[in-house]
Amino acid sequence: MTEKSKRVERLRVELGDRGYDILIGPGLIARAGLEILPLMRRRQAVIITDATVAHHHLAPLRASFDAQGIGHQEIVLPAGEATKDLAHFGRLVDDVLACGIERGTMLVALGGGVVGDIAGFAAATLLRGIDFVQIPTTLLAQVDSSVGGKTAINTAAGKNLLGAFYQPRLVLADTDTLSTLPTRELRAGYAEIVKYGLIRDTAFFEWLEAEGEAVCDLEPAAATRAILTSCRMKAAIVAADEREEGDRALLNFGHTFGHALEAETGFGDTLLHGEAVALGMALALDFAVCLGIATGQDASRVKRHLAAAGLPTGLSAIGLSGNAADRLVGHMGKDKKVRDGRITLILPRRIGDAFVMRDASTEQLREFFGAAA
Ligand code: NAD
Ligand code: GLY
Repeated sequence: MTEKSKRVERLRVELGDRGYDILIGPGLIARAGLEILPLMRRRQAVIITDATVAHHHLAPLRASFDAQGIGHQEIVLPAGEATKDLAHFGRLVDDVLACGIERGTMLVALGGGVVGDIAGFAAATLLRGIDFVQIPTTLLAQVDSSVGGKTAINTAAGKNLLGAFYQPRLVLADTDTLSTLPTRELRAGYAEIVKYGLIRDTAFFEWLEAEGEAVCDLEPAAATRAILTSCRMKAAIVAADEREEGDRALLNFGHTFGHALEAETGFGDTLLHGEAVALGMALALDFAVCLGIATGQDASRVKRHLAAAGLPTGLSAIGLSGNAADRLVGHMGKDKKVRDGRITLILPRRIGDAFVMRDASTEQLREFFGAAA
């Protein structure tokens, strides 16, 4: 490991008095107590994690809190997307309250996007809002979900439909944690990195074409650069449009298609969230080609890159049955970006340049799915 790749990078999300730092680098869990202590109003933390992450990464976090004299209690949730529901949320907030929290207590989310989203929503609502810190342990959470303050759980009607914009006080992206992450999860997170290149940064996409394999192999310099570039772009977009009234919607590139595919496949192991985003980005490109907005060359180039990273790029990957086109359009109609009943899509004009289309035609989408399935 070179000296440079051992360095911790620091970025700021500029949101005035709700602004916060993102630290990216190795060894951050071991010094979490030191980093969090100056932000604490009382030396009490409640750590929320999942069983898998607890097994790998809870011990050093406990030790770092002990070293700073920070009292801590732990709540360990079951791993997986199914945890992000109302039943688990209800038990979670009861368990946090049973820890005897006050407004000055710090919640600490140690885990992937599932833990970050449910713990963040708990922080947003407990005692009408208590401080929280994100310690993301998946690549997806380090480049996306831990930054920007979207917190949510799923309901029977769909994904992330109950939530709040609520910013953390700090994000500690410890790159060492990625060494225990299963390859499939790592590659799913890589899809969100590719997203940043596709929406706004052609040079970053070109760099990923050259170095993507090194990123997925977790070569320290390449992985850190990919996480840093992603977080820098996300921080800038969030600072300019925290509540998604404009450009923040670009971060949903691939997600309207992707969420429909996740709903269709039951939010489970068939399609991980990042895999759904990869397939959703490929479909958004193909749809843009059908509409004459993007070129077939760009679509093929992106799909080649995603496929080389082991990500799905065609509907054949999930084997849809029956009248899938109608069902998929139905799922897309429940998206949070729907306005006046119209589906909003993020579509690419070319690699590095995406835009928000506010009134996608459901008829064209139905025909597109019919031909693609
Ligand atoms: P996840 O949290 O379910 O983690 C994936 C799996 O990896 C889990 O089984 C987990 O236990 C395990 N894991 C986590 N860290 C590990 C580690 N270091 N070593 C070994 N195993 C580890 O899933 P995810 O992909 O991180 O996040 C997906 C969720 O994030 C979805 O619910 C999605 O909606 C949400 N999300 C939110 C935002 C946002 O802005 N809030 C953005 C993108 C995605
Ligand atoms: N992941 C999309 C957003 O944070 O806006």
